[in-house]
Amino acid sequence: MSSDATAASGMVQMHVDKGTLAHPVYNYKVVRQFAVMTVVWGIVGMLVGVLIAAQLAWPVLNTELPYLHFGRLRPLHTNAVIFAFGGCALFASSLFVVQRTCQVRLISDTLAAAVFWGWQLVILAAAISLPLGLTSGKEYAELEWPIDLLITVVWVLYAILFFGTIMKRKVEHIYVANWFFGAFIITVAVLHIVNSLAIPAGAFKSYSIYAGTVDAMVQWWYGHNAVGFFLTAGFLGIMYYFVPKQAERPVYSYRLSIVHFWALIAVYIWAGPHHLHYTALPDWAQSLGMIMSLILLAPSWGGMINGMMTLSGAWHKLRTDPILRFLVVSLSFYGMSTFEGPMMSIKTVNALSHYTDWTIGHVHSGALGWVAMVSIGAMYHLLPILFGRERMYSIDLINVHFWMSTIGTVLYIASMWVNGILQGLMWRAYNQDGTLTYTFVESLQASYPGYYVRLIGGGIFFLGMLVMAYNLYMTVTTDETAEEQAPSGSQPVAGTA
Ligand code: HEM
Ligand code: HEM
Repeated sequence: MSSDATAASGMVQMHVDKGTLAHPVYNYKVVRQFAVMTVVWGIVGMLVGVLIAAQLAWPVLNTELPYLHFGRLRPLHTNAVIFAFGGCALFASSLFVVQRTCQVRLISDTLAAAVFWGWQLVILAAAISLPLGLTSGKEYAELEWPIDLLITVVWVLYAILFFGTIMKRKVEHIYVANWFFGAFIITVAVLHIVNSLAIPAGAFKSYSIYAGTVDAMVQWWYGHNAVGFFLTAGFLGIMYYFVPKQAERPVYSYRLSIVHFWALIAVYIWAGPHHLHYTALPDWAQSLGMIMSLILLAPSWGGMINGMMTLSGAWHKLRTDPILRFLVVSLSFYGMSTFEGPMMSIKTVNALSHYTDWTIGHVHSGALGWVAMVSIGAMYHLLPILFGRERMYSIDLINVHFWMSTIGTVLYIASMWVNGILQGLMWRAYNQDGTLTYTFVESLQASYPGYYVRLIGGGIFFLGMLVMAYNLYMTVTTDETAEEQAPSGSQPVAGTA
């Protein structure tokens, strides 16, 4: 029986040759590489986050050295956490899920290796060029044109690998997680190509082909859909595979998953103008962006509710399973940030929140609470499978990590909400004679306590990543598993897809 046929017969058992860590049916090598790099880039990206949080708390940390200045490290942070950490988590999980649910090996090992090494090259190029100050100046699309071309090539290879595997599938049905991964891959390709169109002016400098308001609109059509498809659709794909697996329950409603998938795809693409309220963008476009953002609450919550309700009958597992806790708490943060986003898109609310730390709080309730926590949960599920272990070295350490992430996120976002409202109200306060009540510097001084709390919260979240790295290292190097620490059923039995 061929290896694919073995898979198709549903008899695939976790069978890992511990010497080579090769899987007889699936390509686990590329998944393992991406999974390990998720942890590595998570640590790097968050360390830079902690550094820039410290620079905002103590501006003196902005030394004369331009490479380590806030203005250069900030895009390094956003690129590292979104595209390196988040990207590797998405590559690892999508390439795992597509194989398991289609019950076939990836179409080509060479292509898989090219995607892995190509993406690492992109990250390396970003890590060098951004501190050097080479940037296109477009937020979340800062990388200069040669790197943009490399991204396009790697992305097309990834699309061929993913969709080629779907086409080769041994099961007729395409599992819903793959729908979300597929939408993420196609949309990110379109967004990246359209937004990055530029005229080169030398090896490291280019000018966007768009100008003025059109440039702003294209940029935020890209920016918002980077949130919608990179930071949301892809991670919903992760959610749809790993929550049911970890809870050992079927998805609550398959019909709801299809309905909210199409609604999400149809609505997200129109919401970008909420980033450009009260600008030169025509008023009707701003209002359209606001209305579409309000509608977006429904499909977003459709996903959140579907994930949560998958735990029906399995809620007791939360008491003993920290991986499930990561996944479920990430869903609650997803629900929170997708409630907050539509509220912030209302023009009168945005008049208060825009330019303040409220936006930063919103970003990180999505980024830390949702994106990072769902990725961490998925990686804890995956890593033992990929390294041929029964479970992670220490379940207790996963629990410690869970609490560090949760407390860190709450401290981060609560401090930024307080700061945001404070700043918004101070900036709009008028005296009776029409003069401003507070100077800008007074609002800055009032923000410092929030900056210290954010630093502490971010620092705790970052230290949690180090705990994860230690746990991973011990899982790989120790053959013994900490059996006595593992509550029964807390780690999935590998290979039961
Ligand atoms: C240890 C964890 C983290 C810390 C300490 C941290 C800290 C920071 C700081 C200080 C800023 C700049 C805020 C400002 O300019 O006022 C920032 C921006 C940002 N961070 Fe993080 N961050 C962390 C994790 C993450 C993660 C995991 C993600 C994404 C998955 C993320 C995404 C972003 C984004 C998108 C921005 C730009 C926000 C905007 O322009 O509105 N961060 N972060
Ligand atoms: C229904 C869903 C959502 C809506 C309607 C929404 C809406 C908004 C609004 C109105 C802003 C402020 C724009 C401004 O004043 O400049 C914003 C900023 C932002 N949101 Fe959301 N949001 C949603 C979900 C999310 C999620 C889940 C994440 C992350 C995973 C996220 C990440 C961001 C980022 C990174 C920014 C800052 C962009 C920037 O200025 O650099 N959003 N969002």
